[in-house]
Amino acid sequence: MTYSELYLYAKSRLTDYEALCLMEDIFDIDRRGLALYGNEMPESETDFMKAIEKRLAGIPLQYATGKAYFMGRQYFVGEGVLIPRDDTEVAVTECINSMKGTERVIDLCSGSGIIAVTLAKEFLKAEVYAVELENKAYEYLERNVRYHGADVKLIHDSIFNENCVEGEFDIIISNPPYIISDVIPILQKEVQFEPKTALDGGNDGLDFYRCIADKWVKKLKKDGKIILEIGEEQAEDVSELLKMQGITQISVVKDIQNLNRVVFGTKQN
Ligand SMILES: C[S@@+](CC[C@H](N)C(=O)[O-])C[C@H]1O[C@@H](n2cnc3c(N)ncnc32)[C@H](O)[C@@H]1O
Repeated sequence: MTYSELYLYAKSRLTDYEALCLMEDIFDIDRRGLALYGNEMPESETDFMKAIEKRLAGIPLQYATGKAYFMGRQYFVGEGVLIPRDDTEVAVTECINSMKGTERVIDLCSGSGIIAVTLAKEFLKAEVYAVELENKAYEYLERNVRYHGADVKLIHDSIFNENCVEGEFDIIISNPPYIISDVIPILQKEVQFEPKTALDGGNDGLDFYRCIADKWVKKLKKDGKIILEIGEEQAEDVSELLKMQGITQISVVKDIQNLNRVVFGTKQN
């Protein structure tokens, strides 16, 4: 089939938006490209057809194409790694706004690497670390760091082992798993394809925040910043956990839907 025929076929089975995403991600052809090259044929249509079937089976679009986007950059994703969410822009923007550019920064629970890669690419002189435990997610992290030529030091370990990296940091940033275990089975169907290990924050959703407060705040330098993405109802609990470890000037940042999305604080001494 020609590109135009493939697009029309995809559109007959999926939404127009999804058909266009598949055209772009698999053939690198957008609407304008369709007008210019629509009568030409790709070398192979196998991946395109497979992606349509995956999407029809309920598999998220990003897993079907193998690509996702975050703050203007493309990342490889697939089953075993969390699909980047636009929500995470709030934490990354706060971090960028607070940086001079030479800081030692650590991204805990790095997943596909969107946070660490963005910071390393925006601040070439910063020393950026990324910690990820799960094998599949770590593979994507490595691949994305390599793809972007980002200077990120990778640590394949659990954040529950705070000794996996030495020294103190100017900034700790994290989007950890934070969903209450019992809630996971009732999340929408597409989320069920994502790894439970990326979502599950334990019985009250706070396991990882407790770990970060107890084990990582002591690795922050004086005046160091901590920036944590949170679930919309976790601002008070997470703020309290940080306060108990000597974090001050705590603020809660909202996303564009006016939901609490980030807890930001400073270590006093
Ligand atoms: C909510 S996802 C966030 C991924 C990425 N930071 C993002 O914003 O898209 C949480 C990540 O934590 C990882 N993870 C789970 N348990 C971990 C642990 N004990 N130590 C390090 N990473 C862990 C998961 O594999 C997953 O990649």
